[in-house]
Amino acid sequence: MYSRIAGTGRYLPERIVTNSELATRVDTSDEWIRARTGIERRHIAADDETTASLSTQAARAAMDAAGVDAADIDLIVVGTTTPDLVFPNVACLVQERLGIPACPAFSLEAACTGFIYALSMADKMIATGSANCALVIGAETLSRIVDWNDRTTCVLFGDGAGAVVLRPADTPGVLSCHLGADGRYQDLLFSPYGTSKRPPPDADDVSYIKMKGNEVFKVAVKTLEGLVTKTLEAHQLDKSAIDWLIPHQANTRIIQATAKRLELPMEKVILTVQDHGNTSAASVPMALDTAVRDGRIQRGELLLLEAFGGGFTWGSALIRY
Ligand code: COA
Repeated sequence: MYSRIAGTGRYLPERIVTNSELATRVDTSDEWIRARTGIERRHIAADDETTASLSTQAARAAMDAAGVDAADIDLIVVGTTTPDLVFPNVACLVQERLGIPACPAFSLEAACTGFIYALSMADKMIATGSANCALVIGAETLSRIVDWNDRTTCVLFGDGAGAVVLRPADTPGVLSCHLGADGRYQDLLFSPYGTSKRPPPDADDVSYIKMKGNEVFKVAVKTLEGLVTKTLEAHQLDKSAIDWLIPHQANTRIIQATAKRLELPMEKVILTVQDHGNTSAASVPMALDTAVRDGRIQRGELLLLEAFGGGFTWGSALIRY
Protein backbone atom coordinates (compact mmCIF):
# COMPACT_ATOMS: atom_id res chain seq x y z
CA MET A 1 0.00 0.00 0.00
CA TYR A 2 1.17 3.51 -0.82
CA SER A 3 -0.17 6.96 -0.10
CA ARG A 4 -0.87 9.55 -2.77
CA ILE A 5 -1.83 13.20 -2.71
CA ALA A 6 -5.54 13.49 -3.49
CA GLY A 7 -5.85 17.26 -3.05
CA THR A 8 -3.95 20.38 -1.98
CA GLY A 9 -4.91 23.73 -0.45
CA ARG A 10 -3.43 26.88 1.03
CA TYR A 11 -4.43 29.98 2.89
CA LEU A 12 -2.66 33.31 3.28
CA PRO A 13 -3.95 36.05 5.60
CA GLU A 14 -5.31 39.10 3.82
CA ARG A 15 -2.95 41.69 5.24
CA ILE A 16 0.16 42.20 3.13
CA VAL A 17 3.25 43.99 4.40
CA THR A 18 5.61 45.08 1.63
CA ASN A 19 9.35 45.56 1.97
CA SER A 20 8.85 49.30 1.62
CA GLU A 21 6.41 49.30 4.55
CA LEU A 22 8.98 47.46 6.68
CA ALA A 23 11.56 50.05 5.69
CA THR A 24 9.47 52.66 7.50
CA ARG A 25 9.88 50.68 10.74
CA VAL A 26 13.48 49.41 10.63
CA ASP A 27 16.65 50.46 8.86
CA THR A 28 16.31 48.39 5.69
CA SER A 29 15.28 48.80 2.06
CA ASP A 30 13.27 47.00 -0.61
CA GLU A 31 16.50 46.64 -2.66
CA TRP A 32 18.43 45.02 0.21
CA ILE A 33 15.68 42.53 1.05
CA ARG A 34 15.09 41.56 -2.58
CA ALA A 35 18.78 41.18 -3.37
CA ARG A 36 19.64 39.09 -0.28
CA THR A 37 16.47 36.99 0.00
CA GLY A 38 14.19 37.36 -3.03
CA ILE A 39 11.33 38.36 -0.69
CA GLU A 40 9.01 41.16 -1.85
CA ARG A 41 6.13 40.96 0.63
CA ARG A 42 4.72 38.82 3.43
CA HIS A 43 1.21 38.13 4.77
CA ILE A 44 0.47 38.81 8.43
CA ALA A 45 -2.35 37.17 10.40
CA ALA A 46 -5.10 39.45 11.72
CA ASP A 47 -5.51 39.72 15.50
CA ASP A 48 -8.31 37.17 15.50
CA GLU A 49 -6.44 34.69 13.29
CA THR A 50 -4.29 31.91 14.70
CA THR A 51 -2.35 28.93 13.39
CA ALA A 52 -5.49 26.80 13.82
CA SER A 53 -7.69 29.20 11.85
CA LEU A 54 -5.17 29.44 9.01
CA SER A 55 -4.87 25.63 9.06
CA THR A 56 -8.63 25.23 8.89
CA GLN A 57 -8.88 27.39 5.77
CA ALA A 58 -6.07 25.53 4.00
CA ALA A 59 -7.56 22.18 5.03
CA ARG A 60 -10.97 23.11 3.61
CA ALA A 61 -9.38 23.93 0.26
CA ALA A 62 -7.43 20.64 0.21
CA MET A 63 -10.53 18.63 1.16
CA ASP A 64 -12.56 20.31 -1.59
CA ALA A 65 -9.82 19.56 -4.12
CA ALA A 66 -9.69 15.92 -2.98
CA GLY A 67 -13.48 15.62 -2.96
CA VAL A 68 -13.60 14.38 0.64
CA ASP A 69 -15.86 15.37 3.55
CA ALA A 70 -15.09 15.82 7.22
CA ALA A 71 -16.54 12.35 7.84
CA ASP A 72 -13.91 10.79 5.54
CA ILE A 73 -10.88 12.12 7.46
CA ASP A 74 -9.41 9.65 9.95
CA LEU A 75 -6.03 11.23 10.72
CA ILE A 76 -4.87 14.84 11.19
CA VAL A 77 -1.20 15.79 11.46
CA VAL A 78 -0.08 19.41 11.71
CA GLY A 79 3.51 20.54 11.44
CA THR A 80 3.91 23.85 13.26
CA THR A 81 6.29 25.69 15.50
CA THR A 82 3.73 28.35 16.46
CA PRO A 83 0.77 26.43 17.95
CA ASP A 84 -2.23 28.38 19.31
CA LEU A 85 -1.99 26.79 22.75
CA VAL A 86 0.25 24.56 24.82
CA PHE A 87 -2.62 22.09 24.50
CA PRO A 88 -4.91 21.00 22.96
CA ASN A 89 -2.69 20.64 19.91
CA VAL A 90 -3.52 22.48 16.67
CA ALA A 91 -4.78 19.30 14.97
CA CYS A 92 -7.48 18.91 17.66
CA LEU A 93 -8.54 22.54 17.16
CA VAL A 94 -8.77 21.97 13.40
CA GLN A 95 -10.70 18.76 13.97
CA GLU A 96 -13.31 20.60 16.03
CA ARG A 97 -13.62 23.48 13.55
CA LEU A 98 -14.11 21.16 10.60
CA GLY A 99 -16.41 18.73 12.42
CA ILE A 100 -14.09 15.79 11.79
CA PRO A 101 -15.17 12.72 13.79
CA ALA A 102 -12.96 11.13 16.48
CA CYS A 103 -9.58 10.11 15.02
CA PRO A 104 -5.88 10.51 15.85
CA ALA A 105 -4.96 14.21 15.70
CA PHE A 106 -1.56 15.55 16.64
CA SER A 107 0.91 18.33 15.94
CA LEU A 108 4.64 17.97 15.64
CA GLU A 109 7.40 20.54 15.76
CA ALA A 110 10.31 20.37 13.39
CA ALA A 111 10.46 24.09 12.54
CA CYS A 112 10.61 24.69 8.79
CA THR A 113 10.75 20.93 8.13
CA GLY A 114 7.46 20.42 9.99
CA PHE A 115 5.35 19.66 6.93
CA ILE A 116 7.80 17.09 5.53
CA TYR A 117 7.93 15.38 8.94
CA ALA A 118 4.11 15.43 9.13
CA LEU A 119 3.81 14.07 5.60
CA SER A 120 6.23 11.27 6.43
CA MET A 121 4.23 10.26 9.54
CA ALA A 122 0.92 10.28 7.65
CA ASP A 123 2.44 8.38 4.72
CA LYS A 124 3.60 5.61 7.08
CA MET A 125 0.18 5.39 8.73
CA ILE A 126 -1.56 5.08 5.37
CA ALA A 127 0.99 2.63 4.01
CA THR A 128 0.51 0.36 7.04
CA GLY A 129 -3.29 0.56 6.91
CA SER A 130 -3.60 2.60 10.13
CA ALA A 131 -5.29 5.47 8.28
CA ASN A 132 -7.38 5.78 5.17
CA CYS A 133 -7.71 9.53 4.63
CA ALA A 134 -5.16 11.85 6.20
CA LEU A 135 -5.19 15.60 6.47
CA VAL A 136 -1.60 16.85 6.57
CA ILE A 137 -1.02 20.51 7.32
CA GLY A 138 1.93 22.89 7.64
CA ALA A 139 0.92 26.17 9.27
CA GLU A 140 2.53 29.09 11.07
CA THR A 141 1.89 32.49 12.61
CA LEU A 142 5.55 33.44 12.83
CA SER A 143 4.59 37.12 13.01
CA ARG A 144 3.78 36.44 16.67
CA ILE A 145 7.38 35.49 17.50
CA VAL A 146 9.20 37.93 15.24
CA ASP A 147 10.94 40.90 16.82
CA TRP A 148 9.61 43.68 14.60
CA ASN A 149 12.48 45.92 15.69
CA ASP A 150 15.19 43.49 14.55
CA ARG A 151 15.97 44.09 10.87
CA THR A 152 18.09 40.96 10.62
CA THR A 153 15.05 38.70 11.16
CA CYS A 154 11.79 40.64 10.75
CA VAL A 155 12.24 41.04 7.00
CA LEU A 156 12.37 37.29 6.50
CA PHE A 157 9.24 35.74 7.97
CA GLY A 158 5.49 35.61 7.33
CA ASP A 159 2.27 33.72 8.14
CA GLY A 160 0.35 31.11 6.14
CA ALA A 161 -0.90 27.54 5.91
CA GLY A 162 -0.79 24.74 3.36
CA ALA A 163 -2.48 21.34 3.42
CA VAL A 164 -2.76 18.08 1.52
CA VAL A 165 -5.16 15.14 1.72
CA LEU A 166 -3.41 11.78 1.51
CA ARG A 167 -5.26 8.66 0.43
CA PRO A 168 -4.20 5.04 -0.14
CA ALA A 169 -3.16 3.88 -3.60
CA ASP A 170 -1.82 0.71 -5.20
CA THR A 171 1.02 2.60 -6.86
CA PRO A 172 3.13 5.45 -5.41
CA GLY A 173 2.39 8.26 -4.47
CA VAL A 174 4.88 9.10 -1.86
CA LEU A 175 7.96 7.14 -2.88
CA SER A 176 10.07 8.00 0.15
CA CYS A 177 10.74 10.58 2.83
CA HIS A 178 14.25 11.20 4.15
CA LEU A 179 14.32 12.98 7.50
CA GLY A 180 17.23 14.25 9.55
CA ALA A 181 18.19 16.50 12.44
CA ASP A 182 21.31 17.66 14.26
CA GLY A 183 20.71 19.33 17.62
CA ARG A 184 24.31 20.53 17.82
CA TYR A 185 23.23 23.47 15.65
CA GLN A 186 20.48 24.63 18.01
CA ASP A 187 22.21 27.94 18.78
CA LEU A 188 22.19 29.14 15.18
CA LEU A 189 18.39 29.44 14.88
CA PHE A 190 16.08 29.36 17.86
CA SER A 191 13.45 31.01 19.99
CA PRO A 192 14.87 31.33 23.51
CA TYR A 193 11.85 30.58 25.70
CA GLY A 194 8.85 28.31 25.67
CA THR A 195 6.66 26.37 28.04
CA SER A 196 9.16 24.61 30.25
CA LYS A 197 12.01 27.10 29.90
CA ARG A 198 10.43 30.34 31.06
CA PRO A 199 11.86 33.83 30.53
CA PRO A 200 13.27 35.58 33.61
CA PRO A 201 11.03 38.44 34.81
CA ASP A 202 13.31 41.07 33.27
CA ALA A 203 13.67 39.37 29.85
CA ASP A 204 13.07 41.70 26.95
CA ASP A 205 13.42 39.12 24.20
CA VAL A 206 10.57 36.88 25.41
CA SER A 207 10.14 34.41 22.55
CA TYR A 208 11.62 36.16 19.56
CA ILE A 209 13.42 34.36 16.75
CA LYS A 210 17.21 34.49 17.12
CA MET A 211 19.35 33.67 14.14
CA LYS A 212 22.94 33.74 12.93
CA GLY A 213 21.78 34.20 9.33
CA ASN A 214 25.13 33.83 7.63
CA GLU A 215 25.97 30.54 9.35
CA VAL A 216 22.45 29.17 8.84
CA PHE A 217 22.81 29.95 5.16
CA LYS A 218 26.02 27.95 4.78
CA VAL A 219 24.79 24.85 6.64
CA ALA A 220 21.43 24.98 4.82
CA VAL A 221 23.05 24.96 1.37
CA LYS A 222 25.45 22.13 2.27
CA THR A 223 22.81 20.01 4.01
CA LEU A 224 20.23 20.39 1.25
CA GLU A 225 22.79 19.45 -1.40
CA GLY A 226 23.56 16.26 0.53
CA LEU A 227 19.88 15.57 1.09
CA VAL A 228 18.80 15.76 -2.54
CA THR A 229 21.76 13.63 -3.59
CA LYS A 230 20.88 11.01 -0.96
CA THR A 231 17.23 11.02 -2.06
CA LEU A 232 18.11 10.44 -5.70
CA GLU A 233 20.68 7.75 -4.84
CA ALA A 234 18.14 5.86 -2.71
CA HIS A 235 16.03 5.41 -5.85
CA GLN A 236 18.95 5.14 -8.29
CA LEU A 237 17.49 8.11 -10.09
CA ASP A 238 19.29 10.48 -12.37
CA LYS A 239 18.87 14.21 -11.69
CA SER A 240 17.04 14.53 -14.99
CA ALA A 241 14.17 12.38 -13.65
CA ILE A 242 12.92 15.22 -11.42
CA ASP A 243 10.12 17.20 -13.02
CA TRP A 244 9.69 19.78 -10.25
CA LEU A 245 11.67 20.89 -7.22
CA ILE A 246 9.40 22.20 -4.46
CA PRO A 247 11.79 23.64 -1.90
CA HIS A 248 11.24 25.27 1.47
CA GLN A 249 10.80 28.94 0.65
CA ALA A 250 13.37 30.62 2.90
CA ASN A 251 15.65 32.43 0.53
CA THR A 252 15.98 32.48 -3.27
CA ARG A 253 19.75 32.11 -3.06
CA ILE A 254 19.51 28.89 -1.00
CA ILE A 255 16.92 27.55 -3.47
CA GLN A 256 19.13 28.43 -6.45
CA ALA A 257 22.04 26.53 -4.91
CA THR A 258 19.92 23.36 -4.55
CA ALA A 259 18.59 23.72 -8.10
CA LYS A 260 22.16 24.05 -9.36
CA ARG A 261 23.17 20.84 -7.60
CA LEU A 262 20.26 19.11 -9.35
CA GLU A 263 21.16 20.81 -12.65
CA LEU A 264 17.54 21.96 -12.77
CA PRO A 265 16.72 25.21 -14.58
CA MET A 266 14.82 27.65 -12.35
CA GLU A 267 11.75 27.17 -14.58
CA LYS A 268 11.49 23.72 -12.96
CA VAL A 269 11.63 25.12 -9.44
CA ILE A 270 8.46 26.30 -7.70
CA LEU A 271 9.35 29.69 -6.27
CA THR A 272 6.85 31.53 -4.06
CA VAL A 273 9.14 33.11 -1.45
CA GLN A 274 8.74 36.51 -3.12
CA ASP A 275 5.02 36.51 -2.28
CA HIS A 276 5.07 35.48 1.39
CA GLY A 277 8.60 35.25 2.77
CA ASN A 278 9.64 32.35 4.98
CA THR A 279 6.48 30.76 6.38
CA SER A 280 8.37 27.84 7.95
CA ALA A 281 6.28 24.63 7.95
CA ALA A 282 3.66 26.21 5.67
CA SER A 283 5.99 27.00 2.80
CA VAL A 284 6.33 23.63 1.05
CA PRO A 285 2.60 22.73 0.95
CA MET A 286 1.75 26.30 -0.12
CA ALA A 287 4.28 26.13 -2.98
CA LEU A 288 2.94 22.73 -3.97
CA ASP A 289 -0.65 24.00 -4.01
CA THR A 290 0.34 27.08 -5.99
CA ALA A 291 1.84 25.01 -8.80
CA VAL A 292 -0.93 22.40 -8.76
CA ARG A 293 -3.61 25.08 -9.07
CA ASP A 294 -1.86 27.09 -11.77
CA GLY A 295 -1.49 23.90 -13.81
CA ARG A 296 2.29 23.59 -13.82
CA ILE A 297 2.33 20.32 -11.85
CA GLN A 298 0.51 17.53 -13.68
CA ARG A 299 -0.53 14.06 -12.53
CA GLY A 300 2.23 11.49 -13.06
CA GLU A 301 5.10 13.96 -12.66
CA LEU A 302 7.97 13.38 -10.24
CA LEU A 303 8.24 15.94 -7.44
CA LEU A 304 11.10 16.51 -5.03
CA LEU A 305 10.04 18.36 -1.89
CA GLU A 306 12.73 19.50 0.56
CA ALA A 307 13.06 21.63 3.67
CA PHE A 308 15.60 22.76 6.25
CA GLY A 309 15.05 24.62 9.51
CA GLY A 310 15.73 25.23 13.17
CA GLY A 311 17.11 22.30 15.14
CA PHE A 312 18.62 21.91 12.63
CA THR A 313 16.05 19.66 11.01
CA TRP A 314 15.80 18.69 7.36
CA GLY A 315 13.77 16.41 5.15
CA SER A 316 12.85 15.47 1.61
CA ALA A 317 9.88 13.73 0.03
CA LEU A 318 10.01 12.15 -3.40
CA ILE A 319 6.50 12.00 -4.82
CA ARG A 320 4.92 10.72 -8.01
CA TYR A 321 2.06 13.21 -8.15
N1 COA B 1 18.47 45.52 5.82
C1 COA B 1 19.63 46.11 5.58
N2 COA B 1 20.80 45.67 6.08
C2 COA B 1 20.76 44.54 6.81
C3 COA B 1 19.57 43.87 7.09
C4 COA B 1 18.39 44.40 6.57
N3 COA B 1 17.19 43.82 6.76
N4 COA B 1 19.84 42.78 7.84
C5 COA B 1 21.17 42.76 8.03
N5 COA B 1 21.73 43.83 7.41
C6 COA B 1 23.14 44.22 7.36
C7 COA B 1 23.95 43.62 8.48
O1 COA B 1 23.83 44.40 9.65
C8 COA B 1 25.33 43.67 7.90
O2 COA B 1 25.83 44.95 8.03
P1 COA B 1 27.39 45.21 8.35
O3 COA B 1 28.14 44.64 7.19
O4 COA B 1 27.47 46.70 8.45
O5 COA B 1 27.67 44.50 9.63
C9 COA B 1 25.11 43.42 6.41
O6 COA B 1 23.72 43.69 6.18
C10 COA B 1 25.41 41.99 5.97
O7 COA B 1 24.81 41.10 6.92
P2 COA B 1 24.89 39.55 6.72
O8 COA B 1 24.14 38.90 7.85
O9 COA B 1 26.29 39.12 6.45
O10 COA B 1 24.04 39.41 5.35
P3 COA B 1 23.79 38.15 4.48
O11 COA B 1 24.25 38.37 3.11
O12 COA B 1 24.24 36.88 5.15
O13 COA B 1 22.21 38.13 4.40
C11 COA B 1 20.42 36.90 5.41
C12 COA B 1 21.47 37.98 5.61
C13 COA B 1 19.67 36.70 6.72
C14 COA B 1 19.47 37.36 4.32
C15 COA B 1 21.12 35.60 4.96
O14 COA B 1 22.18 35.30 5.83
C16 COA B 1 20.18 34.42 4.96
O15 COA B 1 19.24 34.40 4.20
N6 COA B 1 20.46 33.42 5.81
C17 COA B 1 19.60 32.26 5.89
C18 COA B 1 18.44 32.61 6.77
C19 COA B 1 17.36 31.61 6.67
O16 COA B 1 16.96 31.24 5.60
N7 COA B 1 16.87 31.19 7.82
C20 COA B 1 15.80 30.30 7.91
C21 COA B 1 16.26 28.94 7.57
S1 COA B 1 14.89 27.92 7.58
